Amino acid sequence: MIMKYIFLFVLLISTGCKSFAVNNYKGLVIRSAMPIDNKTYENWNGEIHFSPNAIFLPSTLQDLINIVKLAKTNDKTIRCAAQGHTISTLSVTENYLVVVTNLTKVTIQNDPKYGWTATAEAGVSLTDFETALRNHDPPLTINSATVYNTLRASGVIATGSHGPITNSSIMPDQLCSMKIVTASGEVREFSKEISESEFNVAKLNLGLLGIIYSATFCVQPMYNLRMNDTFYSINEWLNPKNLKELLDSSDGVEFFYWPFNGFNQSDPKPLDPNRDQIWVKTFVRTDDPASFTQQQLEQSLPNQTQEAIQQYELRRTLIPNPEKTPNVTATLWNGLTSFGNTSFVYQVPDAMHYVVSEESIKLELMEIAFKADPDLSNVVAEYLFIMKTLYDFAGEGKFPLNIFVDFRIIKSTKTLLSNTFDKDPEALYCHIDFVTILDTPSWQEFAQLIAQRAFDQYKAKPHCAKEWEFIPNVDSYLANAFSDQIKQFEQIRAKYDPDKIFFDNKSLQDIFNIALGSQNGEDSNKKKV
Ligand SMILES: Cc1cc2nc3c(=O)[nH]c(=O)nc-3n(C[C@H](O)[C@H](O)[C@H](O)COP(=O)(O)OP(=O)(O)OC[C@H]3O[C@@H](n4cnc5c(N)ncnc54)[C@H](O)[C@@H]3O)c2cc1C
Ligand SMILES: *[C@@H]1O[C@H](CO)[C@@H](O)[C@H](O)[C@H]1NC(C)=O
Ligand SMILES: *[C@@H]1O[C@H](CO)[C@@H](O)[C@H](O)[C@H]1NC(C)=O
Ligand SMILES: *[C@@H]1O[C@H](CO)[C@@H](O)[C@H](O)[C@H]1NC(C)=O
Ligand SMILES: *[C@@H]1O[C@H](CO)[C@@H](O)[C@H](O)[C@H]1NC(C)=O
Ligand SMILES: *[C@@H]1O[C@H](CO)[C@@H](O)[C@H](O)[C@H]1NC(C)=O
Ligand SMILES: *[C@@H]1O[C@H](CO)[C@@H](O)[C@H](O)[C@H]1NC(C)=O
Ligand SMILES: *[C@@H]1O[C@H](CO)[C@@H](O)[C@H](O)[C@H]1NC(C)=O
Ligand SMILES: *[C@@H]1O[C@H](CO)[C@@H](O)[C@H](O)[C@H]1NC(C)=O
Ligand SMILES: *[C@@H]1O[C@H](CO)[C@@H](O)[C@H](O)[C@H]1NC(C)=O
Repeated sequence: MIMKYIFLFVLLISTGCKSFAVNNYKGLVIRSAMPIDNKTYENWNGEIHFSPNAIFLPSTLQDLINIVKLAKTNDKTIRCAAQGHTISTLSVTENYLVVVTNLTKVTIQNDPKYGWTATAEAGVSLTDFETALRNHDPPLTINSATVYNTLRASGVIATGSHGPITNSSIMPDQLCSMKIVTASGEVREFSKEISESEFNVAKLNLGLLGIIYSATFCVQPMYNLRMNDTFYSINEWLNPKNLKELLDSSDGVEFFYWPFNGFNQSDPKPLDPNRDQIWVKTFVRTDDPASFTQQQLEQSLPNQTQEAIQQYELRRTLIPNPEKTPNVTATLWNGLTSFGNTSFVYQVPDAMHYVVSEESIKLELMEIAFKADPDLSNVVAEYLFIMKTLYDFAGEGKFPLNIFVDFRIIKSTKTLLSNTFDKDPEALYCHIDFVTILDTPSWQEFAQLIAQRAFDQYKAKPHCAKEWEFIPNVDSYLANAFSDQIKQFEQIRAKYDPDKIFFDNKSLQDIFNIALGSQNGEDSNKKKV
């Protein structure tokens, strides 16, 4: 019985990256804060590569301070990278790139004010952080995390990444405090107690405030989540009432559209959306014991990895033959659903990272977020629109998406630059993540169409760490959409970095220039505020 469950667990895996060793930079031979010349940096999917003036691999706080001082002496700007999974240009610089992956200490404290807290240096991976918490006496956990566990503390914080737990909002909202080496070369602490307005800037700063040295999370005693995977007919189940009921009765709801899953190999024509099912995942806190031991979960990893790579190889055959997409995606869907609906109990981190991480799998991702109607009717409408768009594209022989579209609904945040910022703390935001194999034909055309419609219809905003720079007129759109928040952010940014050491030019600067109405970035579309 257990074997069957583990096999099932294997089948649930479709994408991922598990190995901790990345070689993002070619031929590094470095000592702490010494600069390395003439090296190329490449991000995880290989779409971003550049040769900065120097790449640093610091391992102590003092190294970070020395790098900032060196940059000032040499009149250089600085950008940072952690695990390099960001596929936008956030890390790009012509000057100094600081890769924080060798800052890996974790400390756990029982704080008189907050209870248990855990401090991760910038380069601690989520998996190492969660392991340190799990091995602590008593075992501890964070409440919500990204699907991938190879991502590092400063990377998920700086970009405002999020998991599926509704009340937990974005990961920066789990912080009690953080430390940043700012342009003066000093270490600054940010927390709600010191200054709430500055904390709401520091928590999601896109690297603009300085080098993040550490992030202190408020953590909880370890607990379990029951994770259900249920497959419903879209026609019969998907309506605002059903979705709302599920959201209200769960700690987190994540649901997927898996393209053309109702495609029938024995009856292939025509493609019929009425056969498609929706995959719904729920997370509910429980006192029930975990369904598997840690040892069983670890033992299943090689198989999950193997399965993920096989699925990846199969999907890659679609790049030259996109018209085979319905057959391939439906075949993989039949594997996923072959055991029917399931309900298992996991410790929090194991539920969050329900997909194995596998570094060799290369994807395209775009994620947009918009305010959900209180009854979720716009979320349902968007699901159906995306599905219809994929069928329309198929009608023209185009298959831009071959993995899935992933929906998560979480609460808003007061963190200024988040795409889920809202003054109403109870507002719900829907994140839609589009995931396909790297270099899938028609991907950009599809992604642009979806994004622009969601901008127009719902004032949606993209996840800055995924793909967004290819969306036409996105700079002026975001400058307007974030206008008020950028003005507030800029006051605090300028206080800590008046000379713009951390503000390298490109996408972010263009957006800030337009929002702030500077000469370089005047834009005729700009709304007067
Ligand atoms: C396969 C995959 C799955 C993902 N899943 C999710 C998900 O479930 N939810 C979600 O919200 N996002 C998700 N993302 C997006 C991901 O969380 C972000 O790209 C995150 O930044 C990756 O962390 P990283 O350690 O690779 O950071 P990097 O990509 O290395 O860094 C990101 C940016 O953060 C800044 N930064 C990093 N470290 C520092 C520092 N020490 N000081 C100052 N600035 C710094 C820099 O500007 C840098 O460009 C996913 C991305 C991929 C590729
Ligand atoms: C960085 O960490 C790796 C892995 O622990 C280690 O092998 C390497 O020597 C470190 N590099 C520096 C410059 O500290
Ligand atoms: C430096 O980079 C240039 C251009 O990529 C290359 O031709 C040269 O061989 C590199 N030098 C070293 C020492 O790596
Ligand atoms: C989430 O927060 C709301 C109030 O904001 C509360 O009513 C609800 O019980 C919380 N849900 C959980 C699962 O904690
Ligand atoms: C679907 O793929 C399988 C395996 O490659 C192949 O045998 C079958 O002919 C395909 N069916 C259709 C309808 O394309
Ligand atoms: C697929 O089509 C065949 C032939 O029309 C039919 O017998 C079979 O029931 C269909 N399968 C499903 C799952 O609908
Ligand atoms: C992994 O797969 C192999 C064969 O594919 C099987 O023998 C083994 O039992 C599987 N291991 C687990 C833990 O499921
Ligand atoms: C999964 O659950 C849904 C809702 O209860 C039900 O309609 C469906 O038939 C179930 N699927 C299987 C394979 O049992
Ligand atoms: C999860 O599945 C279990 C077992 O089928 C069921 O009792 C429970 O109500 C389900 N929870 C949700 C939120 O669907
Ligand atoms: C960045 O700005 C400098 C001057 O401030 C300019 O010389 C350089 O071309 C710019 N680089 C990019 C990539 O925009």
